[in-house]
Amino acid sequence: MNALELLDISPVMPVIVIADATLAVDLAHALAAGGLRTLEITLRSDAALAAIEAIRQHVPEVLVGAGTVLDAQQLQSAHAAGAQFAVSPGLTEALALAVQGRGIPFLPGVASAAEAMRAAEWGFMAQKLFPAEAIGGVELLKAWHGPLPHLRFCPTGGIHAGNASRYLALPNVGCVGGSWLTPAAAVTGRQWDVVTRLAREALALAR
Ligand code: 3PG
Repeated sequence: MNALELLDISPVMPVIVIADATLAVDLAHALAAGGLRTLEITLRSDAALAAIEAIRQHVPEVLVGAGTVLDAQQLQSAHAAGAQFAVSPGLTEALALAVQGRGIPFLPGVASAAEAMRAAEWGFMAQKLFPAEAIGGVELLKAWHGPLPHLRFCPTGGIHAGNASRYLALPNVGCVGGSWLTPAAAVTGRQWDVVTRLAREALALAR
């Protein structure tokens, strides 16, 4: 699987900040039960790497990626933990070189046409538009489709059940990402039926 193919696996990608790795497997099962096939565990908590490892080992029906990968060291740790893809909020030269060295599917974050072009020069044709709502969202992606039709995006940042379908209707959007599928209270409270319902509802937005 390459990064462009990754965008087509599941129209909605949960962006997860996990505080307790022992919840990871049940959480991934709950999302998979709702029909989602990709998920991103952000490296924003101490539990993230253990969560990635547990999901990779016990929930083979989902692809687990690492998010908020900021440097080569984090990329290495995430890959070693079993991450099947990586996502970053932006792109640096060091990170691009590290990704090339490992050959892991990667979505670099971009927020301007120049950043999108620079990421494409590194070979990254699938990109994360971040923070999507704050920088123009649907209108920005429509405007980019003219001059940058070869690029495809996974917008994240401010996306939720109320606006996701507007993004998913765009020709240059493969999937959308967001934290709305995994509310902290539902996860810590082990309300897996809530998570499954949110996943199922999100998937329905794409149809
Ligand atoms: C990300 O890292 O993609 C964002 O934090 C997700 O944004 P959201 O919390 O607004 O969905």
